[in-house]
Amino acid sequence: VQASGIHHLGVAVEDLEEALATYERLFGAEVEHRATVDGQGVRAVSLRIGEGRVELLEPLGEDTPVGRFLAKRGPGMHHVAYGVADVRAALAELTDAGADVIDEAPREGLFGLQVAFVHPDSVHGVLSEVVSAG
Ligand code: CO
Repeated sequence: VQASGIHHLGVAVEDLEEALATYERLFGAEVEHRATVDGQGVRAVSLRIGEGRVELLEPLGEDTPVGRFLAKRGPGMHHVAYGVADVRAALAELTDAGADVIDEAPREGLFGLQVAFVHPDSVHGVLSEVVSAG
């Protein structure tokens, strides 16, 4: 798939407010969106840093995807998200290219975005997301 660029970096954190304050203080981050998504087990903040974007993810519990990630690997980089024009078309192209896609179909991500994830084993250890803003 031809990605238009890196849409955001996802970072797993233990304390969302503390992490947010760190990104504001160190890098001049500004809050773009906030959401608690019970279905995904996260509290999240989208930050703009200049033209870039960082998504901070705090798990709602230990038995959630981000909670398990934190327990196993500790806080830090969780995923890289690439902007694409059409997530459904991107999924088909990724599948054709032999990538192990986690989502068979686009799903509602954070902040109203359409997203799908690609297994880290297909991307040299990096959980990767494709996202369209439409
Ligand atoms: Co993301």
